[in-house]
Amino acid sequence: MAFDFDTLLPLRGMHTSNYDNIKRTYGVDDPDAIAMWVADMHFKAAPVILDALRDEIEWGYCGYFANTAPADEALAAWLKERHDWEIDPSWVRYTHGVISGYGDVISAYSEPGDGVIVFSPVYHAFFRQIEAMGRQVVESPLVIENGRFEMDLEGLAASLKGHEKIVTLCSPHNPGGRIWSVEELRALTDFCAAHDLILISDEIHMDLTFPGATFVPTVVAAPEHAGRIAVLTAASKAFNVAGAETGIAIYPTAEMRKKLAPVILDRESTPNRYGMAIIKAAFSGGHDWMDAGQAYLAENFRVFKERMDAIPGVSVMDMDATYLTWVSFEGLGMDDAELLKRSVEDAKVIPNPGTQFGIGGSGHMRYNLALPRAKLLEAIERLEAAFKDVQ
Ligand SMILES: Cc1ncc(COP(=O)(O)O)c(C=O)c1O
Repeated sequence: MAFDFDTLLPLRGMHTSNYDNIKRTYGVDDPDAIAMWVADMHFKAAPVILDALRDEIEWGYCGYFANTAPADEALAAWLKERHDWEIDPSWVRYTHGVISGYGDVISAYSEPGDGVIVFSPVYHAFFRQIEAMGRQVVESPLVIENGRFEMDLEGLAASLKGHEKIVTLCSPHNPGGRIWSVEELRALTDFCAAHDLILISDEIHMDLTFPGATFVPTVVAAPEHAGRIAVLTAASKAFNVAGAETGIAIYPTAEMRKKLAPVILDRESTPNRYGMAIIKAAFSGGHDWMDAGQAYLAENFRVFKERMDAIPGVSVMDMDATYLTWVSFEGLGMDDAELLKRSVEDAKVIPNPGTQFGIGGSGHMRYNLALPRAKLLEAIERLEAAFKDVQ
């Protein structure tokens, strides 16, 4: 079946965070703006998901939800088939989004004042959540080797103060779409064991791999450390259903599930009915849509990288996964305010400023490439024009 990623959906004025938060966040209100910041796609969700939602609406009952078993089993089958990870469906818990699950694990495994490690530059909501919970953000700067991010575990070991309890891994990494290798995952989990740290592996982007790239779940890479690995994931990014606010937590040991149980009881009510319908539909019938989407995004990345790399001083990081590309403008010698002004005000292309992502973010901007190709090309043309004077 062919899927449509080319149609331009009307998104402005439709309660989309992507478009309808631009004015509040960037202070510009231009009907021509192209949103390339918020991490959701500009495409319709997969037909199999929309059909499941239609069935729910037709039925008409909107009450509390019970029995997650069919969704748990669909997820388990998906993980086995696509990521070679055999989980027991009883390991699965649902959260009101991945960041809510992140808070659950932080709450269970640390106290206010403790340190939570992140590898920067990284998804900005980690910082907000850690700080909101009264923990301390500990940034471990990623280094760039051969144009790709790498963790510096030696540097991190040398900087530990003793108050760190948790390490956060974003896998694949946001921004920049790095898939961590088995060796890297094993080195990190060994590091966590050596320093008695819990590892939160945020695998929300696990399905957004480019054709030919293979994502390895952290627990698959290091099963012997499963007792200290809390996995968070979702259908939200890969299937474009983030507004359903339904995250998935996979707690692979009984001890971990026991530790999390009171936190879950305290924070969570029943799962979102529509979120559960989405999860079951996505993970049982979403294979073809996902394959087609991966190929479309990989081509969007290829086109974007080719054109942007041609601007002197601009360099797009190579990526294996996600649609959240990391662009260095460091070669232009402009400050962050000037970069943002050129993108937002001159090009009318809305990125995330790199400074949101912590250490290593200055001189960069993140662009979401999950747009219909025609819109992406328009955005590229406008960015080329905004940086024309450097060419
Ligand atoms: C790595 C990562 N984790 C979590 C989230 C947000 O997940 P949720 O909306 O389910 O809290 C995002 C959104 O972009 C993300 O990139």
